[in-house]
Amino acid sequence: MNFTVLTLFPEFIDFFFTRGVIGKAVEKRLIAGKTVNIRDFAHDRHKTVDDRPYGGGCGMVMKPDILAAAIRSVKKTAPDSKVILMTPQGSPFDQKKAWDFSREEKDLVFVCGRYEGIDERIRNGFVDEEISIGDYVMTGGELAAMVIIDSVARLIPGVLGGCESAEMDSFTGDRLEHAHYTRPFEFEGKDVPEVLISGDHEKIRQWRTSSSVKRTFIKRPDLFSKKKLDLKEKEILSKWCQQIEQLIGK
Ligand code: ADE
Repeated sequence: MNFTVLTLFPEFIDFFFTRGVIGKAVEKRLIAGKTVNIRDFAHDRHKTVDDRPYGGGCGMVMKPDILAAAIRSVKKTAPDSKVILMTPQGSPFDQKKAWDFSREEKDLVFVCGRYEGIDERIRNGFVDEEISIGDYVMTGGELAAMVIIDSVARLIPGVLGGCESAEMDSFTGDRLEHAHYTRPFEFEGKDVPEVLISGDHEKIRQWRTSSSVKRTFIKRPDLFSKKKLDLKEKEILSKWCQQIEQLIGK
């Protein structure tokens, strides 16, 4: 899968493509990461990429002709690529979207705006999708593009180590992931749940399902409206409820 980022700060993204899991994936050629400096498409002596907004007001707007030239240059080599504009006005990014991109797209192009925004005429005709990573405003789209690339790339087969499974991630299946423990068995007076050292794989699997549904109930109950509780999960929660009632002597 190829990720191309159109930005005024390519060095910011280039570093990201050389480090950690993403860097390894690039080395192994499981993904390719490229940056395009939008400023290279400016045609005046000062390499101007922005201008004052029509109608007045403060802040600068990125010029449509420069952005259009940058996008066209990328499209020339990858005509079927999907062009994504990073903007707080876009549709919210989530794990489902990350899975969809990892399975369905081959070339993703991210347009990172700076200043007050980009000329509106770029949204229509040059951009396939507008995406936001949350209801807050950052100074540019670069961090948002890296968030998306990171979460999509790790779903590509081979990017995570053999043992790490993206299928078990939090939010995959609209549930939070179960709790994790490692050595020592006892830490500051707290033991690891006995079942995890029992060697009984079925019991461990059941414990993990139970941990996952209880955590989702406590931390993100809204996820139950995305995916309804199944019979097994209802059983887990009602048993838990009975245990709590017993504990408080009801
Ligand atoms: N650019 C600035 N803020 C953003 C956000 N929340 N999501 C995506 N791109 C952005």
